[in-house]
Amino acid sequence: MSVDVFESATLAGVRLKNRVIRSATHGGLADAQGFPLPVMEWKYAHLARGGAGLIITGYAGVQPNGRCHFPGMLMIDRDACIDPARRLVDAVHALDTPIVLQLGHCGRQTRRQAIGETPVAPSAVRDRHYNGETRCLNCSFCAVGLDVEPARCHFGRIKGRYDHGT
Ligand SMILES: Cc1cc2nc3c(=O)[nH]c(=O)nc-3n(C[C@H](O)[C@H](O)[C@H](O)COP(=O)(O)O)c2cc1C
Repeated sequence: MSVDVFESATLAGVRLKNRVIRSATHGGLADAQGFPLPVMEWKYAHLARGGAGLIITGYAGVQPNGRCHFPGMLMIDRDACIDPARRLVDAVHALDTPIVLQLGHCGRQTRRQAIGETPVAPSAVRDRHYNGETRCLNCSFCAVGLDVEPARCHFGRIKGRYDHGT
């Protein structure tokens, strides 16, 4: 069966005008507090105007110790993040394009300098590449909750990313 990529589709209840999906891509376009810079809104609006059927944000940190060591990570770890995120979402929705928030926690795949503490993970095993000291969370990591409800930022759906350093 062949499907036309430009055909509409419904994905997890979200109507897409086509099947062109911008995959989650960390672009380093948030400020030091983790709020989206205007250029992030510009980028997603540009993708929406270009015809993307769905945009997935780059991973957004759910806790300060889950930040990546690359600069400019979008954060969604406290109430102050809601209004800036909502403005971003509303700008994309105004262009008739859905946007999904990808949540992330870098676990052991970050650096102490980026998070101000020893990186945490479900076990103390060091990451092969990062090779830094890792603090075991005794599995409470798996129960980490999200303090900010994505719906409050107008995101219709969320996508988790706990695959790499966790
Ligand atoms: C600069 C860059 C940033 C990325 N950031 C993320 C991310 O935040 N979350 C994620 O799940 N994947 C991320 N990826 C992976 C991409 O979403 C994509 O799966 C990967 O690039 C493979 O697709 P491609 O072959 O079309 O490049 C990133 C990739 C690149 C190159």
